[in-house]
Amino acid sequence: MNRLEETVSAPPVYGLPATLAGRTRRVYDRLAAVYPVSTMLFHSRAHRCALGASGIRDGMRVLEVATGSGEMFRRLVRANRSGSTIGVDLSPNMAARTQRTARQKFPGASAHCQAVDARRMPFRDDSFDAIFCCYLLELLSSEDIVSTLSEFRRILRNNGQLTLVLIGQNTALFNSIYRVLGKVAPAFWGRQVEQRVPDLIESVRFDILEDRMVRQTFYPSRVLVARK
Ligand SMILES: C[S@@+](CC[C@H](N)C(=O)[O-])C[C@H]1O[C@@H](n2cnc3c(N)ncnc32)[C@H](O)[C@@H]1O
Repeated sequence: MNRLEETVSAPPVYGLPATLAGRTRRVYDRLAAVYPVSTMLFHSRAHRCALGASGIRDGMRVLEVATGSGEMFRRLVRANRSGSTIGVDLSPNMAARTQRTARQKFPGASAHCQAVDARRMPFRDDSFDAIFCCYLLELLSSEDIVSTLSEFRRILRNNGQLTLVLIGQNTALFNSIYRVLGKVAPAFWGRQVEQRVPDLIESVRFDILEDRMVRQTFYPSRVLVARK
């Protein structure tokens, strides 16, 4: 059992197993004000790629899971001005920041973000045309990755598209550094899972349509688009 699978002293979230979720929520809550810098330096190119590969059109019902401080969420709201864009994040501070900045930039848009655990989401079956999720799966235990992917499938309509962004595992030096960071602060860094995710997506009956690698400075990302 690795450290992400361990039970820790954090209370269970919504009755789910108490993995690292409690610590993850606390650490991201504290970092909400400075997190935009990290997104700009390491994630923005992959966000652009994901948006382009996803095929979303204005007027859709779009969900972003694990919005962080809301940079991708604002891209989605901009692309979907007459549709409805919903965001969720485990950290209440991240969710509040995402909601505030989206409302400031796009006051007329239907855009809402709330604090929700991706492992069990308060949405009806078939609620969304498209779901986006960037750099979350690294923070979940193997069991929680499967239950979260199953949640995506449940709340996505038939033929709806799931766009995932993962931290790439195609650079040996980066992988070594990431392993160390993950040991030092597992609740923040998690561990790389990119190479296992395609099989997991297919195990919950998604078909992979797009698979792209992106690099921003030294930071590798993989963008996957899959259809229910
Ligand atoms: C690495 S950040 C990525 C943020 C953003 N998606 C991006 O691309 O920059 C991970 C985010 O996932 C959120 N998160 C972690 N566990 C979660 C869970 N179980 N449900 C929802 N969000 C979660 C964290 O609070 C954090 O904001």
